[in-house]
Amino acid sequence: MGDRKPLLAVLSGEAQAVPPIWLMRQAGRYLPEYQELRAKAGSFLDTCYNPQTAARITLQPIERFGFDAAILFSDILVVPDALGQKVWFEAGSGPRLVPVESDDDITALAESFDIEKLAPVFETIDRVKGELPKSVTFIGFCGAPWTVASYMIAGRGTPDQAPARLFAFRRPEAFARLIDSLVAASVAYLIRQIDAGVETLQLFDSWAGVLPPLEFERWVVAPLKKIIGEVKAARPGVPIIAFVRGGATHLPALAERLGADALGLDTAIDPAWAVKEIPRGTALQGNLDPLALLAGGAALDREIDSILRSFAGRPHIFNLGHGVLPETPLEHVSQLIERVRRTGN
Ligand code: CP3
Repeated sequence: MGDRKPLLAVLSGEAQAVPPIWLMRQAGRYLPEYQELRAKAGSFLDTCYNPQTAARITLQPIERFGFDAAILFSDILVVPDALGQKVWFEAGSGPRLVPVESDDDITALAESFDIEKLAPVFETIDRVKGELPKSVTFIGFCGAPWTVASYMIAGRGTPDQAPARLFAFRRPEAFARLIDSLVAASVAYLIRQIDAGVETLQLFDSWAGVLPPLEFERWVVAPLKKIIGEVKAARPGVPIIAFVRGGATHLPALAERLGADALGLDTAIDPAWAVKEIPRGTALQGNLDPLALLAGGAALDREIDSILRSFAGRPHIFNLGHGVLPETPLEHVSQLIERVRRTGN
């Protein structure tokens, strides 16, 4: 294995005896040290745009738990912000945006993208990269166009992203222009993250699972494929993880068609099925239920062991099937890491 970082080795197709581990939302509210910095930093977006604070928050879970990867502390909704949409976060109710409604709104967004608004994010990356332990991989990210657009249309989180689904059925041309703007902005943003110092990228398509097949093809597959193709053409050699939540039976085709180096698996995916149906050339990441981590105890041990057994011998990154829940006890996270590292694959 030499000096290769374990997570990068897995992304290049090498299975590890002990799978590297990190958790989606590992920097967040379940950490008291996060709560403390957040309380001092003002709004959530101010926190994302404060390089000193965002760098500290990125490093907190590494310092406390020794994860194998650090994920940039930011949010997928900084891209609409850089497109000129008004975005804010309300305590308790999540993200809010002034909803995109008219064709003129969509044209205006396309024309007003200002990547320099994201300069603090690149400065955060620059600060973090010098502080990471040698074996820790630095992950950059952005939201996938469909997921980001679904918040831009609804103006808030919804149970099933019905407003964006309805918009896309009623006005597909206008919606396609919004998706195209997000593809272009995401490519530029990801390339700048690489140039600032991240070593791999994760694309979050958290709401892919609500779309029927034709829409899934048009709004999930095509834009992700384009982003991955363009980023890889510009910066070859930087591996990409695609987390297509709710991708379900589409996953084997996604492995063949997206050009991603790894697929993130959500909680509903049976690891035994994934190992059988997804070609070995694509690394797999996941997929412990965040509620099992919250519950802890014997149930947690059983789920961990089952996942380790299923992925044994495959290039696998241990992760959750979705983000860490804020109520998760810190001891359960220690229990998870110890068990994964003790048992290995
Ligand atoms: O994973 C990490 O630790 C890195 C940072 C990160 C955040 N959000 C921080 C955050 C990442 C990678 C994200 C991605 C993100 N943001 C997604 C995709 C992944 C997913 O969870 O499905 C989505 C859909 C968002 C949009 C978003 N941001 C929502 C819906 C919310 C509110 C819900 C919630 O969990 O609070 C946020 C806020 C947010 N993003 C917080 C954090 C730490 C909580 C903000 C706070 O401190 O109050």
